Amino acid sequence: MKISVIGCGYLGAVHAAAMARLGHDVVGIDTDAAKVEKLSAGVAPFFEPGLPELLSEGIGSGRLRFSTDLADAAGARVHFLAVGTPQLPNSDGADLRYVHGAVDALARVVAPDSLIVGKSTVPVGTAGGLVDRLRTAGSRAALAWNPEFLREGFAVADTLTPDRLVYGVADADDAALLDEVYVDVLATGIPRIVTDYATAELVKTAANAFLATKISFINAMAEIAEATGADVTTLADAIGHDARIGRRFLNAGIGFGGGCLPKDIRAFTARAEELGRAESVAFLRQVDAINLRRRERAVDLAVELLGGSVFERRIAVLGLTFKPDSDDTRDSPALDVAARLHGLGARVRATDPEGIGNARLRHPQLDYTTSAEEALRDAELAVLVTEWREYRDLDPERVAGLMATPRVIDARNVLDPASWRAAGFAYRGLGRS
Ligand code: UDX
Repeated sequence: MKISVIGCGYLGAVHAAAMARLGHDVVGIDTDAAKVEKLSAGVAPFFEPGLPELLSEGIGSGRLRFSTDLADAAGARVHFLAVGTPQLPNSDGADLRYVHGAVDALARVVAPDSLIVGKSTVPVGTAGGLVDRLRTAGSRAALAWNPEFLREGFAVADTLTPDRLVYGVADADDAALLDEVYVDVLATGIPRIVTDYATAELVKTAANAFLATKISFINAMAEIAEATGADVTTLADAIGHDARIGRRFLNAGIGFGGGCLPKDIRAFTARAEELGRAESVAFLRQVDAINLRRRERAVDLAVELLGGSVFERRIAVLGLTFKPDSDDTRDSPALDVAARLHGLGARVRATDPEGIGNARLRHPQLDYTTSAEEALRDAELAVLVTEWREYRDLDPERVAGLMATPRVIDARNVLDPASWRAAGFAYRGLGRS
């Protein structure tokens, strides 16, 4: 089937390449000419395991191409909308200008029997408004909402083998067309939920709100653990054995960041206020506040471990991205902690396997090195803020040999306290003593 994907960021680029893998004839559209040039050459514009291979395969087969010209999408039967919905600059709400721009532009070029399929995360009620927009612009194209649940670092697998597919449709024929698009994905037997627009939009928002709440719940327990001498990781293991709770997303640390969870819970709060239902999701303000407090806690621990001040003290910061296996530093707790320490006058040397380029754009004032060894050399404190495999696997004896004084803050609770203490370290986790 001929398919277009509008917007080639993390979501759209992966989706376009995955659709080509499924055998479709795909064109990805993006206004950023540099990005389109890279993608056309089979180069991923960001770090995502498996994407370069998928791009090369698609381009090599002739089934995948990229363009800056929306007119190239005109011949497609299905158009996926994968443009960004960032947080508005001066409020918690979502900025829908890219969604509106894409729909207005599509309305001018698409065939009347084509289907526009929203994948972006939008405030509930958006899809209904987009149909009105299409009709006002004179287009008879249909609209469906098919939210995407991909995680960065696992985006390729999450797209090709998702847990479930959700279709928000106004007409059963549109669901049937989506079944054709996803025929090979559905063949694995995954659940497919066909519903209305509002439910489909809410599924995505609710899933992210739940995940954020789960993380902030365990981080709230970390605060209690810190006040009582309890250990939050053992607590998480113990409650996680209850199948109703589950152990995943119960890792306490410096909390969630990235391009989705923080902005999505804020946009949800803003939307609920518009709907006169602010109280229903008032707890999400707490979820956000707990999350932000954990970054402060990591900084306070650094001050404490260094005897009352970090001023002019040498601190190695291990990790900059919001999570491992990504180069994304959007709303990254790790980068925030590095910048706060620098702001307090610490001599921060920060390192990350993939995130330095993006981190430098946000915080050019920091001192970056590509080598963990260089960051650690002569440092008085190491702070592990993103749990990359290579930091988890660091040998405490070797690290002690590099540092001026063996002190470590394990802000993701991934190191073994006993072996680091045995190597002479003053070790502190978050929510464990
Ligand atoms: C998330 C959702 O998981 C995904 O379904 C949605 O489509 C987009 O948003 P992503 O932003 O890629 O995906 O990251 P995710 O793996 O969910 O992690 C989000 C943040 O939570 C990271 O900063 C991570 O470090 C943090 N986290 C996660 C914790 O602090 N503790 C945990 O137990 C799990």
